[in-house]
Amino acid sequence: METYEAITTRRSVPKVTDERPDSATIARLLDAGVRAPTHHLTQPWRFIVLTGDALEEMGDAWAAGAEREGKDPESVRAKPLRAPVVITVIETPKHHLRKVQEVEEHHAVGAAMQNMLLAAHAMGLGAMLRTGPAAHIPEVHDYLGLGEGELVAGYVYVGYPEPGADRPQTRRTDAADITEWRGW
Ligand SMILES: Cc1cc2nc3c(=O)[nH]c(=O)nc-3n(C[C@H](O)[C@H](O)[C@H](O)COP(=O)(O)O)c2cc1C
Repeated sequence: METYEAITTRRSVPKVTDERPDSATIARLLDAGVRAPTHHLTQPWRFIVLTGDALEEMGDAWAAGAEREGKDPESVRAKPLRAPVVITVIETPKHHLRKVQEVEEHHAVGAAMQNMLLAAHAMGLGAMLRTGPAAHIPEVHDYLGLGEGELVAGYVYVGYPEPGADRPQTRRTDAADITEWRGW
């Protein structure tokens, strides 16, 4: 698929089949991720790729957090199982270094996640970026082994699109309506 076509036809795929993409396929997504722009080449990211038992362990950690907060743990326990593979994208910001701006680290990781979504789309996979409470729950952070200053930037859920579950793209305001052209 040509790049511009991939960008303009991508859409999130929340419903995927149980078929697990193999590790080489997932590795290609990660390789696309790390090609994102990164100021000072800080590369503020690392990844934890979850599947099988690891998704259940992640669900248990999420459920433990919900229970501690007085919520129903069973309402969240199965959420990581919505796809056969979940790529946890951890931001490892380097803004303690001279010249490195925190916001630029966020942008770089966002670009990495978008690269993965676009690559997944071009490769015929179904992917969706989620954050939700599992990005912030201490029990989940413990499970993932987050270090000092690290944060969960997002979870890229990946699988193969469910046949027939295709859905139209979500709406966007036309760029023309929110763009000023100056000096043209
Ligand atoms: C950083 C980030 C986090 C998101 N987290 C969630 C989420 O937790 N749950 C959800 O339903 N959508 C979430 N979304 C939105 C979807 O990924 C998706 O982009 C949105 O539904 C629009 O659909 P589209 O990508 O097909 O245009 C998130 C998007 C971003 C950029």
